Amino acid sequence: MAESMQGLKRSHRCTELSEANIGQTVTVMGWVQKQRNKGGIIFVDLRDRSGILQIIFEEDDVKSEGFEKASRLRSEFVIAVTGKVEARSGAVNENLATGKIEVRANAIRILSEAETPPFPVEENSKTKEELRLKYRYLDLRRPDIQRNLMMRSKIANEIRRFMIGEGFIEIETPMLGKATPEGAREYVVPSRVHPGNFYTLPQSPQLYKQLLMCSGYDRYIQIAKCFRDEDLRADRQPEFTQVDMELSFVDVDDVIEINERLLKHVCKEAIGIDVELPIKRMTWHEAMNRFGSDKPDTRFGMELVDVSEVVKGCGFGVFTGALENGGSVRGINAKGQAEMPRKKIDALVDMAKGNGAKGLAYLCVMPDGTYKSSFAKFMTEDELQSLVSAMSGEPGDLLLFAADKNKIVFSVLGALRLELGKQMGLIDENQFNFLWVTEFPLLEWSDEEERFVAMHHPFTMPMEEDWQYIDSDPGRVRAKAYDIVLNGVELGGGSVRIHQADIQEKMFEVLGLSKETAQERFGFLLDAFKYGVPPHAGLAYGLDRLVMLLLKADSIREVIAFPKVKDASCLLTEAPNTIPEKQLEELGIKIVLPQE
Ligand code: AMO
Ligand code: AMP
Repeated sequence: MAESMQGLKRSHRCTELSEANIGQTVTVMGWVQKQRNKGGIIFVDLRDRSGILQIIFEEDDVKSEGFEKASRLRSEFVIAVTGKVEARSGAVNENLATGKIEVRANAIRILSEAETPPFPVEENSKTKEELRLKYRYLDLRRPDIQRNLMMRSKIANEIRRFMIGEGFIEIETPMLGKATPEGAREYVVPSRVHPGNFYTLPQSPQLYKQLLMCSGYDRYIQIAKCFRDEDLRADRQPEFTQVDMELSFVDVDDVIEINERLLKHVCKEAIGIDVELPIKRMTWHEAMNRFGSDKPDTRFGMELVDVSEVVKGCGFGVFTGALENGGSVRGINAKGQAEMPRKKIDALVDMAKGNGAKGLAYLCVMPDGTYKSSFAKFMTEDELQSLVSAMSGEPGDLLLFAADKNKIVFSVLGALRLELGKQMGLIDENQFNFLWVTEFPLLEWSDEEERFVAMHHPFTMPMEEDWQYIDSDPGRVRAKAYDIVLNGVELGGGSVRIHQADIQEKMFEVLGLSKETAQERFGFLLDAFKYGVPPHAGLAYGLDRLVMLLLKADSIREVIAFPKVKDASCLLTEAPNTIPEKQLEELGIKIVLPQE
């Protein structure tokens, strides 16, 4: 029978005790990690969120009733123990914070019994993620996950502390709202009172925070839930948390400056690392050319080399064909990998194809100086030699080339570079490489929609010096948009916003948004701008990503209490689920399932 707490008060968490408490009588409570019965003496490892403490039971101290209880204990029973702190009788355990002490019990209560859990509650458990997530409440007992969530709380607190100190005001914005402009698919909530009408859950507080600037709040911050119905990956969840901010009367450098100090503060307070300021900056153009990515991992080199000029007149049709189609030929040099087995090279080719390439050309500079290559036969010795020297190729190197439209070349080589960086062990896991990527293009051509779409969102301010090209060459216009990247992950992004009606109108026109549609979707914001709008700019971090990276976790699921899996379902609660017919009727909803 489970006993109550009546008359009992916890005095310490497990690891709040140390040698300083020797001789004191204490009361601790928690879960049984392990019970070992050595005949006349029972050892219990007691666990709470602070860690583990050894309890020792002997019949002389706890009487036969207490000893009987102690002998019944199994993993995950919840108990309360009162006893005296002593120096360890047995060997000191250097791995435990409380390894030099133990508590000699003189009373025990079993507050709750436990069935055998489906997997052991232990650090770095090898249990399959599916099972862990189904029993997340048990998984959340794991010390490593508990540390993650405690760190998350600390990081969020440090962010608040810093920002409030800088004059930011925390303001909540609605969850039930109107479509937001971030470009992902939205989650919708049917309205009962207005049948046939829907709220959408916010992809970000973007429009509200711009309204708050119109209302004069000047510096806004919110740690906000956001919702995006998009394909999930290790760093994406359908519902996630942003650290969202907006500032008035500022330009790019002001936003960057305050965020650098914020990052420095958080990294120092949370994980004790010093971020050197100013953080490096790189234009989007440079990032793409050097790393094939707008979120480059700058912890290692292996940069892309444009060899278009070198192969211009060569005999290899794949290369010259790509150039004739307005594309480029670029390569990376995997140093010392010339003798990579054919199978592994084939896997790289497949990976390139997965990223949209038609193929991947390779050239191994063998240790004896000869070439082994998929295309050497199409080129003269001279052509090959100048290609190798353009790539700084030396005996032992593996050169990989992609020839296509720039967009594909970048995505193929960008991904290969990361894969090889991992395979070759070039990444120093102890580095935290922050990087600002600036001057993103304002617009991006969408083959699918056959029009330009906003790269960030339609309220992003173009760079003044480029605005002249908006009609003649829209793709050339750069934006006052910036991303903060950490170790190859996009941590956050933002922009200066358009606050001038004429520029905004033109933007909608370029995006193919009629006046009517723009008014219908964003009219409330456009109207607000008619009554005095300060120039403003902002940024949002993915809090889950920030915590994941600072903790070096593999996935944001490790830093979210109740994450969803790939198909956006929750294995614990089994959401999403059907709802009763009556509720559907109230909402005026009829279900028509798609046909297989
Ligand atoms: P953006 O769309 O770049 O900008 O989002 C900002 C940051 O939010 C995080 N993020 C995600 N994290 C987890 N799961 C997701 N599905 C997910 N989607 C985005 C990323 C990203 O950098 N309103 C603008 C910000 C602004 O302009 O001020 C915005 O939402 O870390
Ligand atoms: P092929 O003549 O099509 O067999 O191609 C010869 C080599 O070029 C093969 O190794 C292909 O994988 C490679 N290749 C084909 N298309 C491309 C491309 N767009 N970029 C780089 N290499 C390619």
